[in-house]
Amino acid sequence: MVEGYLQKGWVKFPLDPVLARWVRHALPVARAAVSDPKHSEWHDCEGTWFIGVDAMENDGEGRVNGSPPLAGQAVEFINRHLGAQVLHKGQISVIYPGYPQPRRGEGEAAFRYRARRDAAHVDGLRPSGPERRRRVEEPHAWILGIPLSEASPDAAPLVLWEGSHHRLGRAFADAFSAHPAEAHATLDITDAYQATRREVFESCPRIELHGCPGEAYLLHRHLLHGVAPWAANATADRDGRMIAYFRPEFPEGLARWLQSD
Ligand SMILES: [Fe+2]
Repeated sequence: MVEGYLQKGWVKFPLDPVLARWVRHALPVARAAVSDPKHSEWHDCEGTWFIGVDAMENDGEGRVNGSPPLAGQAVEFINRHLGAQVLHKGQISVIYPGYPQPRRGEGEAAFRYRARRDAAHVDGLRPSGPERRRRVEEPHAWILGIPLSEASPDAAPLVLWEGSHHRLGRAFADAFSAHPAEAHATLDITDAYQATRREVFESCPRIELHGCPGEAYLLHRHLLHGVAPWAANATADRDGRMIAYFRPEFPEGLARWLQSD
């Protein structure tokens, strides 16, 4: 299974009763976070996306609302093959019917990209400044997605470009190797990132990844991924299409992030 993960850049884990039990503890907490006024800033895209960064009230081992630590097949896979990390508060990402609409302050081109290219991105490379230049701001180790609600496969599923982590990882490594180590922390990788992303759209298969509560998927940190629009006839339970994400950062930082494994 680890060979498939390294080759394709993702792996999905089947229904797991241990994880399903964790979801039952997490779901009421996630619901409360969505309606908590302290998180109101996270409602964006004209009410069609609750972004919910750090909105889950879990501890470093994933305990939430009286649950045991986050466990099950996905966590065992991570611990065995990728290395355990202390968990941050999880993101609670919820998509509602009508997505996408523009984010606050989002320009026409960026919105078009959201609608036509699933807002495809590599996590941790956030744009900054008026030129939207990108640096590696968060050297994530891996990305674990845990569906919390029932939704149809066309209800704004996660989208990924299979194998894109190879091309992007090489492009990042090349960009960094051309500069001395002192320059790495602030290195602007926008050009390499955007050029490689265009190649990925041409050459890597786009896959829509659906999941039910009790299932989980794991993405390589260099994998290009995004969110598909909510299809016209898509359905979900009253929570919308709700997913918890964990993407802890490497304590070793950027040098470790640049490696391919
Ligand atoms: Fe992401």
